[in-house]
Amino acid sequence: MDENVLLVDDDENTRKALSIALGREGYNVQTAANGSEGIAALDGGPVDILVTDMRMPGISGMELLQYTRANYPEVMVIMITGHASVETAITALKDGAFDYITKPIKLDEVKFTLQKACEKRNLLIENLLLKQQLKGKYKFENIVGTSRAMHEVFSIMEKVIGTDSTVLIQGDSGTGKELVAKAIHYNGPRKDKPFVAINCAAIPGELLESELFGHVKGSFTGAVANRPGRFELANTGSIFLDEIGSMSLHLQGKILRVIQEREIERVGGGKRTSVDVRIISATNVDLEKAVRQGLFRDDLFYRLNVIPIRLPSLKERVEDIPLLVAHFIGKYNQRMGKDIKGVASGVMDCLTSHDWPGNIRELENVIERAVTLTDGKHIQVSALPDSVQGVSADPVYRMNSHIPDRGVDMGAELDRFESALISSAMKKAGGVKSKAAELLGIKRTTLIEKMKRLGL
Ligand SMILES: Nc1ncnc2c1ncn2[C@@H]1O[C@H](COP(=O)(O)OP(=O)(O)OP(=O)(O)O)[C@@H](O)[C@H]1O
Ligand SMILES: [Mg+2]
Repeated sequence: MDENVLLVDDDENTRKALSIALGREGYNVQTAANGSEGIAALDGGPVDILVTDMRMPGISGMELLQYTRANYPEVMVIMITGHASVETAITALKDGAFDYITKPIKLDEVKFTLQKACEKRNLLIENLLLKQQLKGKYKFENIVGTSRAMHEVFSIMEKVIGTDSTVLIQGDSGTGKELVAKAIHYNGPRKDKPFVAINCAAIPGELLESELFGHVKGSFTGAVANRPGRFELANTGSIFLDEIGSMSLHLQGKILRVIQEREIERVGGGKRTSVDVRIISATNVDLEKAVRQGLFRDDLFYRLNVIPIRLPSLKERVEDIPLLVAHFIGKYNQRMGKDIKGVASGVMDCLTSHDWPGNIRELENVIERAVTLTDGKHIQVSALPDSVQGVSADPVYRMNSHIPDRGVDMGAELDRFESALISSAMKKAGGVKSKAAELLGIKRTTLIEKMKRLGL
């Protein structure tokens, strides 16, 4: 047993007795005499299990619990409580504590509870690892996600990577289509062969043909030399036809021929060359609809869509947001030489309630920006863009840099702003005024006064 236990208690005797006893059991014990030392120890890590006294001067055990749940959800928390406060202990369980121990402390009980906590933690981690397939046959480490929707994606990916099947990846912009295409190539038998990507939407139609198939010298103005196309460059490897939905019907016919005959013909040249290429294509338009509208050839659609993979939007996999956030914090920590441990309270709420029209790319940008702006250990709400903080829809915010020619009534604008803030806080606090006041950093009585004045 080498779990790291952090013991937080303001009573020195309890700290000593428990750390000796747990040390004998084989735990690595670290102690802290109050809540703020506890937070520092958690941030210093690693901590697997936190045992904390409930009542301490300064930061209480409950607050420490909340901090831990928000920032280190994998840490098991055990509360120590006096007989009198069993009710608070139950609240603690509701808030995510693993268990509680009542005073006077009985060593056997502590050992037993810790053992259970270890077992639970190991299960949790094992589960996470399994889900993340970090130990699985295939390593899609850089594709983060444990949601059901992503599970389906992983399971299809596993089935296709060993084959040469043509794959069509559909998903909104920023959902990870290119990432998945690369993972399929780089985990398969062609991984040491070229992966050639081409964005069909970014290249004008007449050039696209020569990009794809190459051309012979003099076949058109500007064709000053013989040039191979992307299909030839991808020979024995994979070609990634990105945004295939924007390809002209004329070129669609040519792609169909490549798939059927496994041969290409350079623009302006009669010679046909055989190519062995795995085709992975992607689109953010609904191709079936495009087929119905006559914009996409149905025969090509069926050829490309042998194995369909549909990537969920981030909105459909909100449960993956905390993992993705941790993943991107790690990525940008490394890139910028920072050591940010996580997000402060409130941040995850903003992130999980945002709509994410730009999906994972947008989330990644938000985290990159936040990491840049953060000097401390935790990303604060203020480091998020207004739109993610959930305030940009507010008229007052929208106009904050713009005064119309007719001017504004500042008093009225400020009132509207206060009303909007108070309403959001009340909504978040489930209508509990003292909670809302806490969220706004004002006294309950002040809140009540303001609400009365604003007619809320
Ligand atoms: N599941 C994921 N885990 C980690 N990072 C991801 C995941 N999905 C996407 N990303 C990251 O998000 C960004 C956007 O992904 P990608 O370029 O693959 O999306 P796309 O669907 O091709 O977007 P577009 O339609 O805009 O071209 C990339 O930086 C990618 O690494
Ligand atoms: Mg893309």
